[in-house]
Parts: sequence; C-alpha cells; structure tokens
Amino acid sequence: KKTMTDIDVKGQRVFVRVDFNVPMADGTITDETRIRAAIPTIEYLVEQGAKVILASHLGRPKGEVKEGMRLTAVGIRLAELIGKPVTKLDESIGQEVEQAIANMQNGDIVLLENVRFHAGEEKNDPALAQQFAQLADIYVNDAFGAAHRAHASTEGIAKHIPAVSGFLMQKELDVLGKALSNPERPFTAIIGGAKVKDKIGVIENLLEKVDHLIIGGGLSYTFIKAQGYDIGKSLLEEDKIELAKSFIDKAQAKGVQLHMPIDAVVANEFSQDAETQVVDIDAIPADWMGLDIGPKTAAHFADVIQNSKLIIWNGPMGVFEIDKFANGTKTVADAMAATAGYTVIGGGDSAAAVEKFAVADQMDHISTGGGASLELMEGKELPGIIALNDK
Ligand code: 3PG
Repeated sequence: KKTMTDIDVKGQRVFVRVDFNVPMADGTITDETRIRAAIPTIEYLVEQGAKVILASHLGRPKGEVKEGMRLTAVGIRLAELIGKPVTKLDESIGQEVEQAIANMQNGDIVLLENVRFHAGEEKNDPALAQQFAQLADIYVNDAFGAAHRAHASTEGIAKHIPAVSGFLMQKELDVLGKALSNPERPFTAIIGGAKVKDKIGVIENLLEKVDHLIIGGGLSYTFIKAQGYDIGKSLLEEDKIELAKSFIDKAQAKGVQLHMPIDAVVANEFSQDAETQVVDIDAIPADWMGLDIGPKTAAHFADVIQNSKLIIWNGPMGVFEIDKFANGTKTVADAMAATAGYTVIGGGDSAAAVEKFAVADQMDHISTGGGASLELMEGKELPGIIALNDK
C-alpha cells in the first residue's frame, strides 16, 4: 500500500483519520497511548508543510451529540504533547469547518469534532464520506484501531481522494503482518480472556501458524471441561465444549503443542474478599470457581515463553483487576518482559495488563487496536486498509 512518504503533501489539505478513542473518566483522559502513537504521523505532515485536519471517533454516541464524548480534552492534550497549537472545532462537517480550513496556513493543525456525532459515520453514508472528502486533497488513514470498521471516515472517504496509510498504520501492519505470514520460530500464541466465543476465529487461524498455543483465562475452563474434568462453578460455555474438543484434536493433528492449565486459583465467590485455594485441575471443588491459573501452570507458561522466538499475547490469564487473581497474568507479563523472543501484545486487556504490571516498556510491540488486531489475527482483511490506494 502507498504511504504518506510516497506523495507530496506540501501545502495540501490532508484529512488524517486517527484513533483518538481514548478511555475517559469524568472528562479526564486515563490512557493517552493512542494520542502519543499518532504523533509521528502528525509531526511528519507538519514538517512537510501540510495542512493537517485530524478526525476521530470517541466512544459510541450513536449519531447524537453527547457532551461527554467531545474531543476537546484530546485536543488540549495533543497540543501539549506536540508543542503546537491545535484548533479544536465543534463540528466535523459544514460551514464552520470549511471556514476554519480555508484559514489554515501550511503546518497548521485542526482537530474536527467526534465524527460519530453524525449517524452517517457508522452507516458509511456516501453523502457524509463525500462531505469529509471535500474538506481535503489527500486522505491519510492512521487509525489502525478503527481499521476493522467500514465507516465514512475510515473507508468511504478513501473512494473520493488519494488515500494512503500513516506511520502508525504502517507499523502495526508490518509487525502483525510479518508475525502472521513469516514468523520466527518457535512461534507461540497466548490466548486468554473470558469467552471462547470471542476467540474462535483467532484460535482457528493461529492453529495453522503457531508451534505453541497457550490457553488461559476464563475461556480455558470450557477446554478443561472438554478434557473431561469437573470445573465446579467456573465459567463454562456449554455450547462450545464440542468446539473446544475439535481445537484440541486439530492441535494434535497439526503438531501444535497445546498448553492448558494444570492447576488453578479457585475462589468460593467472585469478589476480592473471596476465600481462595490452589488446586490441581482435576480437583476443582464443586462449589468453587477458577479465577486464575495456578502457580505450576504460570511457571510452565513462562517457560514456553522463555524458549520462544516470537510470542503474541491476547487476553489475560485470570481476573487480574483483583490482586488475588492477578498472579497468573503477572507471571506471563514478567515472562514476556524477560524473554529474548520478539513480544507482541494484541491490544485491549493484555495491553492494560502489561501497563498495570509496569512492563509495557519492555514489549517489542503493543498494538493500539483491540478489535482490529483480533480481526487481523483471525486472518481477516480490514476494510480501512483495503480501501487505501495501491497505485
Ligand atoms: C477500539 O477502541 O477498539 C476502536 O477505537 C474501535 O471502537 P469501536 O469498537 O467503538 O468501533
């Protein structure tokens, strides 16, 4: 795909779709990773003398103006980080926007309002896409986190003006693309999180590619059940037991080494005041629930990570938000930090975990996309990327 460096942007109006969908609490940004991640692209365009028009969604306002979902705080923070004024507008289309853009000098930065205040954004309404396109000469998509959405500002607009990728988009695709198409081996994937249902496509696709597949987290109990063990009150997706069995069989047929919990931290209730004990996986008491992998399992997973050349991690090993159930996820995070292998964090909860355990700096790549990196790992093509021009 063409990137920004393939074209001359000087003096051009460049519509840059970024993913500034950052977590907010009471109007304050609680994690600015996505803002920082977009800066190389913005700085490059400024240095090249482009007129930089930034657009993003924030949250899910469903086509209505929601005061709490304005991008005002993001604009203020971006200006601080980049050390340049950012003109934040209260709309993303219309006269006020056109006027502000007409007044821009080369190197100026304008931030449009949350594009999802218009219902046409998520509907990928051609009329809205056209209105966005009319604001600019060139489209740069740097919103990797939203690349799995076919929306007006991520897909539709690319049909109207020359469309290229930004540096963040490029980096995400390089790392994840290379890992999935031409991995260093041994290649290990760690899949955790609550539900099998959310990871079916990922497990299916990765079974074709990896040497080791580690299964932990809430979803592992359906696999443990599929192996014939009692799991007490642990999370179970009854309708996914057969699928879990088929994954176990497929791993064996493909020569993929499957690593599942051999012990667990179980609790008498889902709470931070719960009573807990460590049990072997064949000894989960009937009234108890598994909320973390046990220490034997964690040590074994760490060992596999240590001996891998490439490791992709998606989904925590337990309820790591609660200290009593955080140890498995912490052990995996520490092993990721310690290994000489190349470490990739597939966004979302695993990114939050390496942040929480203060090892984020030691990862080789932390994806800024949760859903988007998941879909890439499923082997899907992302609409926001397909839409970019090849020529
Ligand atoms: C994300 O946070 O995963 C992206 O910004 C996409 O947000 P969405 O799931 O609301 O489309």
